[in-house]
Amino acid sequence: MSRTFYVTTPIYYVNDVPHIGHAYTTLAADVIARYKRLKGNEVFFLTGTDEHGQKVEKAANAAGETPLELADRVVKRFQALWEKLDVSYTDFIRTTQERHKNGVSHLFAQVLAQGDIYLGEYEDWYCTPCETFWTETQLIDYKCPDCNRPTEKLKEESYFFRMSKYQEQLLAHIEANPDFIQPKSKRNEIIAFVKEGLRDLSISRTSFKWGIPVPGNERHVIYVWFDALANYITALGYPDQSGNFGKFWPVDAHLIGKDILRFHAVYWPTFLMAAGLPLPRKVFAHGWWTVEGQKMSKSLQNVVEPNMLIDKYGADAVRYFLLREVPFGLDGDFSHTALVHRINSDLANDLGNLLNRSTAMINKYFDGIVQTPGPLSALDQAYRAKTEAMVTQVDAHLDELAFSKALQAIWEVISAGNKYIDESAPWALAKDPAQHERLGTIMYCSLESQRIIYHLLAAFMPKTATKALSYLSWDAPPTEAGLKWGGLATGTKITKAEPLFPRIEEGTRD
Ligand code: MSP
Repeated sequence: MSRTFYVTTPIYYVNDVPHIGHAYTTLAADVIARYKRLKGNEVFFLTGTDEHGQKVEKAANAAGETPLELADRVVKRFQALWEKLDVSYTDFIRTTQERHKNGVSHLFAQVLAQGDIYLGEYEDWYCTPCETFWTETQLIDYKCPDCNRPTEKLKEESYFFRMSKYQEQLLAHIEANPDFIQPKSKRNEIIAFVKEGLRDLSISRTSFKWGIPVPGNERHVIYVWFDALANYITALGYPDQSGNFGKFWPVDAHLIGKDILRFHAVYWPTFLMAAGLPLPRKVFAHGWWTVEGQKMSKSLQNVVEPNMLIDKYGADAVRYFLLREVPFGLDGDFSHTALVHRINSDLANDLGNLLNRSTAMINKYFDGIVQTPGPLSALDQAYRAKTEAMVTQVDAHLDELAFSKALQAIWEVISAGNKYIDESAPWALAKDPAQHERLGTIMYCSLESQRIIYHLLAAFMPKTATKALSYLSWDAPPTEAGLKWGGLATGTKITKAEPLFPRIEEGTRD
């Protein structure tokens, strides 16, 4: 029976253009999706865009467009970026699609019919020029935090979701499932939040129009988070159980940033409980990127545009850097110096050199032909054991979404590979015809270890892995079977590799 794996990214607002923060979540999801495919799972990898709500309506007004025109324009930027970054999503959902709108209306109507949604009054502070409701704590001196003008207390009719009813059930679920919310520090924050008490949640608005109408009361549009969160099931065909929904739900991992954890770990599970649906297996909140030590923001003009980085360094270097530099779950800092340093030291030096020197040597000593290995010495055996242990370690790390630990485990074997060549000194053996078989064995071990390394790296750096494997005459897509030692056949022709990553002069930016 084939196993299934369902992974999601948040759906991105179309009032902003993509930056490295968005790319980060999407790349993490892509690595997991690729790795799970390699392990033989049937994977559904979902991403998309969040296109309703007041923010998008406002941005469209400011740009002199309709919200849908704005969305159509921005969605292309996201899709083009994902293509450029080799993101292998299965489906891209837009909340303005009929399939989504139908699913959301259905979910709302179902929860309404069973009595967990009721009509009430929402009272808060309203800024008329901005057409925005604010809570008292958001106000600055009772003035609008956006425009600094006076606000007034207003009542708005609103539908409410009986979130309070699910407080104990949610707490019990979180406590019974230690892996449900990760990392642990975030889980503790959510437990504390839920224990403080859940209030019923306003889930409709009458103050703007750009959204999905409440079924049966078109004066209201459905609150953007109720709309957006449902994407994770509407994309699977909800409410139709027969196809992907029956097959892939509950989701294996929702990957999100820490700022939107409460929506995913409190609101979403309680909506699902009300609808009688199983809860996500895992919600993982990653940290935030600052840029050269500062918060990334439009006003500081320091938003890191991924296209520029990809054009300069290549998609794989960006993919590698983002997942290697910072442990998933912690905050991190993006800097050009750190990026260039990682490219030079990890990719050009450690990884690239190993491939270059080993493929050059086998060409020099054996015309590029893989020899049948002789008996393995203690040194060879240790190197083989290290390579095999890496496969197990990477699997365990990726199960925990510990991307940087997985890469670290791979790099330990790359360093061991360089050391293995240094210590066994093939150039010395080559001078002695009696050592011919020994030399062939060393070449074999070096290339075989790298073949396995590139199978694992295929999830992180797909283009680089394909290229490197092609030097080893390995043109089949990487599979789980390929992770086993011994796949490299005697007689295989190895091509002398070109440098995978050219060195970048440190200190230069442009
Ligand atoms: N539309 C909502 C999500 C709805 S999901 C049902 C949304 N969109 S967003 O475009 O504002 O943000 C999407 C993701 O980008 C979030 O996970 C957020 O954490 C992430 N990031 C935005 N800026 C970021 C950084 N500077 N660093 C890391 N991630 C960041 O929220």
